[in-house]
Amino acid sequence: MAELAARYDSSSCKECHEEIYEEWENSLHARSLYGTGRTAPTIITSIEKGLKRWPYSGVKDIKDIQVKHLMICAKCHLPQLDEATDEVAREIVETLYTWKRAIQEGNEDLADEMEEKLNSLNIGCLVCHQKKAIIHPWVDSPVDKNAVYGSKSYAHDFEKYPKVKKAPAL
Ligand code: HEC
Ligand code: HEC
Ligand code: HEC
Repeated sequence: MAELAARYDSSSCKECHEEIYEEWENSLHARSLYGTGRTAPTIITSIEKGLKRWPYSGVKDIKDIQVKHLMICAKCHLPQLDEATDEVAREIVETLYTWKRAIQEGNEDLADEMEEKLNSLNIGCLVCHQKKAIIHPWVDSPVDKNAVYGSKSYAHDFEKYPKVKKAPAL
């Protein structure tokens, strides 16, 4: 989880795009697995009442959960999960269940810690401005991991991503 969080970290964008960063930080995109506190338990319900009961899902126990299972929610709530290993999927599930148990036991510190860990994964700047920016990659070219995508192409004043490239949808 930490590795995936680092790959999609938005904090390096803050110093120059301060206002946009603040808007984002206060939005549900910054906590897309936890949500308002409803998304996290609903993912657990989807595992308990969905995945575990569906005869051909391959999930009998939470140990069986792979990336493909979480993608039923993550295709929108955490699209970058498709780049992670199944171990990451299981770490997310473990974090969700630890969070739920901590709430039930009234262990606020542990619940807060798990909430924070879940929120380290989110729909950050690079999910929209890089990973998912090109809707038609066979037509408009595949995503360049050294660029951020916006409404037009020009040099980006940031050495980590030195180019702004045009994405038609943006
Ligand atoms: C050192 C300063 C700096 C940093 C850090 C930085 N940017 Fe930028 N970025 C700029 C400047 C300057 C522009 C020009 C447009 C503007 O002023 O908003 C720009 C433009 C953009 C655009 C193009 C918007 C458009 O449609 O024209 C996007 C998208 C963008 N940045 C995303 C990011 C993301 C994502 C990050 C973090 C990974 C980031 N930037 C970090 C300075 C920076
Ligand atoms: C096709 C995209 C998509 C998929 C797939 C998806 N969601 Fe969502 N979900 C959204 C969007 C967009 C919102 C925000 C809607 C809004 O704010 O009106 C949302 C909001 C939510 C909310 C309310 C936010 C909150 O925390 O109060 C919950 C709960 C939720 N989703 C759970 C799930 C679960 C669980 C799954 C998988 C079983 C899932 N979603 C699959 C797009 C999706
Ligand atoms: C959910 C997708 C999404 C996320 C997350 C997101 N953006 Fe954007 N952003 C857009 C879209 C779509 C536009 C173009 C429409 C518009 O200008 O409102 C845009 C416009 C911009 C622009 C150019 C327009 C302007 O107002 O200057 C910049 C710069 C930018 N985003 C930077 C960022 C940064 C930095 C982050 C993270 C803190 C971020 N965005 C997060 C979708 C996103």
